Amino acid sequence: MMNIEDQTSGPLPKEIVRVLIEKAHEAKNQAYCPYSKFRVGAAVLTQDDRMFKGCNVENACYNLGVCAERTAMLKAVSEGHKTFKAIAIASDMNDEFISPCGACRQFMREFGLKWDVYMTKPDSSYEKMTVEQLLPRSFGPDDLTQKKIDTPNE
Ligand code: THU
Repeated sequence: MMNIEDQTSGPLPKEIVRVLIEKAHEAKNQAYCPYSKFRVGAAVLTQDDRMFKGCNVENACYNLGVCAERTAMLKAVSEGHKTFKAIAIASDMNDEFISPCGACRQFMREFGLKWDVYMTKPDSSYEKMTVEQLLPRSFGPDDLTQKKIDTPNE
């Protein structure tokens, strides 16, 4: 399994950040959100500098809706890209930086703690936090292989 320390790669060039945020806003145009009417877009940057976009995709069975962040990550992972440098998230909220939901934070965490989340506004201003800052003391893949007490039924 990949060591999460391997992921730290220094600050991203400004131009890459600009393009990633632009792609997140672009992705928002595809949002399928007839129920919430809350458009979200995301763009994830892989370790080998590819970008995958995603939008929220809702469903008449409300609880089946998928967030933009997970759409973008699912697209990347399903194309063989499992290590990420950053993700940018975009919504239409003028006065708030869009912040990822708890489920998406856990989904990001699966692929490492030390990568960046750019939470943006429509004017492309942003706040940046790491996955670890957004989800401290999290449960992850390594926890499954920790030493355990003996349990019955084994
Ligand atoms: N949503 C996202 O796609 N990402 C977020 O960071 C927050 C919320 C979506 C889920 C749902 O389709 C709509 O926004 C309203 O919650």
